[in-house]
Amino acid sequence: MRQAGRYQPEYREIKKTRRLIDIVTDPELCAQVTILPVDQLNVDAAILFSDIIMPITPMGIAFEIRDGVGPCLDTPIREEAHVKRLSVPDFVAEMPYVSETIHILRNQLSVPLIGFCGAPFTLACYLVEGGPSKHFTHVKRTIHGNPDMWNALMEVLTAGMAAYLRFQADCGAQALQIFDSWVGTLGVVDYRSHVLPYLTRLVAEVKRHVDVPIIYFGVQTGHLLESIAESGCDVIGLDWRVSIADARRRVPANIALQGNLDPGLLLGPWVVLEAHAKSILDQIDAPGFIFNLGHGVTPQTPVESLHKLTQFVHNYTKSRS
Ligand code: CP3
Repeated sequence: MRQAGRYQPEYREIKKTRRLIDIVTDPELCAQVTILPVDQLNVDAAILFSDIIMPITPMGIAFEIRDGVGPCLDTPIREEAHVKRLSVPDFVAEMPYVSETIHILRNQLSVPLIGFCGAPFTLACYLVEGGPSKHFTHVKRTIHGNPDMWNALMEVLTAGMAAYLRFQADCGAQALQIFDSWVGTLGVVDYRSHVLPYLTRLVAEVKRHVDVPIIYFGVQTGHLLESIAESGCDVIGLDWRVSIADARRRVPANIALQGNLDPGLLLGPWVVLEAHAKSILDQIDAPGFIFNLGHGVTPQTPVESLHKLTQFVHNYTKSRS
């Protein structure tokens, strides 16, 4: 999940003078921000510091990341002609800072490095809505009212993200995560018709070229698990609205699960947090599970709660094996 961020005093200090984009494009600083939570929390993997919207600039569309809001566009994509502004760039040439950051990280890290991208659907949400959205009205109007435009947009985003993930793996990322944060807004029928074919293509396209595990994470996807399992991904990341035991019964055993502690619990008493963490681990009786939060760390979270949590997960899993 998002490991680096405003819950860390050191990150808040850096953000006083630098925008997220300034951090991502400065390899030394970006590596430092990526490593910070690994050292601070003792987690078992690092996730490259970036944002899902970063590869969209080289694909042809300008945006800004507003504090407390997220990625925003001045001119959202609302017509078929607008989709033509997007193309698949040469990421090696357009994002040299990514390869440099990964190079630094692979030399410095003693844990694996995860690269990532936004899923075509969630990126399409930002591009079509122009920013975060509650009801995704423009997206749904496009899917159902202008399927040609939707398909063209999903096609170019799928090709773009396949190239971007391959690029990160070629640079040295050892696992890849696809974030589909807003996909829970769709029902099963629409997910299967308008999203799953592109996700399946994205996974296949990456796997054709690089041999790294692919994690697919979505929020509010309890109703979509069987469909997601058809995508070809190696790991499914879950939020806390579905239990791990239920997901385990519904997802084939060759697909690992990841999740799913409610990050809101990190704000409450330790005994409650510990009981929930233990209950998650107790639902697993075979290999193929990655303990994680069910979504990002909120800015109000005490660093100490996260540190205690990773320590507990390590100790508890060791004591059982
Ligand atoms: O080091 C790491 O942990 C990786 C960093 C990371 C960021 N964004 C940095 C960031 C990752 C993996 C992301 C992914 C991302 N970005 C997602 C998918 C995961 C999820 O949380 O659902 C999404 C939907 C986005 C879009 C986005 N960018 C949002 C919703 C926000 C938060 C807006 C806010 O201010 O609350 C951002 C900005 C952003 N990206 C921040 C960080 C640390 C926080 C604000 C900042 O520091 O500028």
